[in-house]
Amino acid sequence: MRGIVVGLGGRARSWISVCHKNKDVEIVGYVDPVPEQRAKAAEQFNLPGAQLFPSISDALQKVQADFALDVTPPKIHEAVAVEAFEAGLHLIGEKPLSDDFEAAKRIVKASKAAGKTHMVTQNYRFGSQPRTTHRLLKEGVIGEPAQVTVGFYRAWATRPGTHYTTMPYPLITDMGIHHFDLLRYVMDREPLRVYARTWNPPWGFHAGDAGHTAVIDFDGGLVTTHHALGSSTGKQSPWNGEWRIEGPDGSLTWEENKIFWTRAYPPDQGIREEMPLDDLPLLGQDAILAEFITALREGREPECSGTDNLKSLAIVFAAIQSSIEKRTVEIAEIMGA
Ligand SMILES: NC(=O)c1ccc[n+]([C@@H]2O[C@H](COP(=O)([O-])OP(=O)(O)OC[C@H]3O[C@@H](n4cnc5c(N)ncnc54)[C@H](O)[C@@H]3O)[C@@H](O)[C@H]2O)c1
Repeated sequence: MRGIVVGLGGRARSWISVCHKNKDVEIVGYVDPVPEQRAKAAEQFNLPGAQLFPSISDALQKVQADFALDVTPPKIHEAVAVEAFEAGLHLIGEKPLSDDFEAAKRIVKASKAAGKTHMVTQNYRFGSQPRTTHRLLKEGVIGEPAQVTVGFYRAWATRPGTHYTTMPYPLITDMGIHHFDLLRYVMDREPLRVYARTWNPPWGFHAGDAGHTAVIDFDGGLVTTHHALGSSTGKQSPWNGEWRIEGPDGSLTWEENKIFWTRAYPPDQGIREEMPLDDLPLLGQDAILAEFITALREGREPECSGTDNLKSLAIVFAAIQSSIEKRTVEIAEIMGA
């Protein structure tokens, strides 16, 4: 499959490496409107000048491709998607699908109208901790869970001037999306409603709010709480967050990169066991790219298709609306007709 990488910033560098080592993929074009970004990527990956372009349309005049890999900031995703679909390309796009929910819906609609495969890169769920936990819950290790808390505390996105430090609600939009998508995947439940409050501490270095607590109700009576601070100068959470899943037969906790099954009550059934992580053939971005290519070959919807991803992104926008309007927001309100 021949691809064009669109956007040559920080994240694109890891994508280029991932694509270069995948034998099913050949990158035929690299696009960025900023000459310095093209030059940096060219130098790092030894790219030929003939494969560097300032826009997708310039690239498409010179090279033939099957898909676009969009690694631009969220605000640009709709323009890239529309151009890609109009050119008959499939699309694999970085999360979040968009910084605007209506734009995200338009992107998904455009992919359907064009009949093109569209996947969003929710790489966190392609890790061994979430995959193993999903399996353990299916096997009923702690019974039917009813409560989950997820905490995330990091000095996150510290580089001044990036979209992370300038956009509204950066942590919920850009990082929350990973954890909200993880909650849907790990718990195998769909969200119903959200109550959230967002803020910035006095020392915060983001223009938009980077602290929040969100209570997210899922179907099946599951209550989840996501609490976070993206300008924490203290103890740093793992990127997956600190998880605590409560069931009638104990808890599963994510402690650093490990999973523990703990049962303290009743005392005669006490257990504290580290659960071995599943050995997966591919992880993260490598697994995403393989899923995208396999779905294309098999003519099926990929995991994390745009359609599916709207349900994860709806949690982001329900949380933002809840914080602004100080009320519980139904996911159905956000999804609309
Ligand atoms: N999945 C993850 O774990 C993860 C990690 C980091 C970033 N990301 C995502 O990747 C995306 C990019 O983030 P980043 O950190 O690389 O940002 P960045 O600012 O480092 O790079 C973005 C690049 O896009 C370019 N660009 C802007 N408009 C463009 C256009 N119209 N056409 C082509 N290129 C254009 C910019 O010049 C810049 O080089 C974001 O959506 C971000 O959320 C995901």
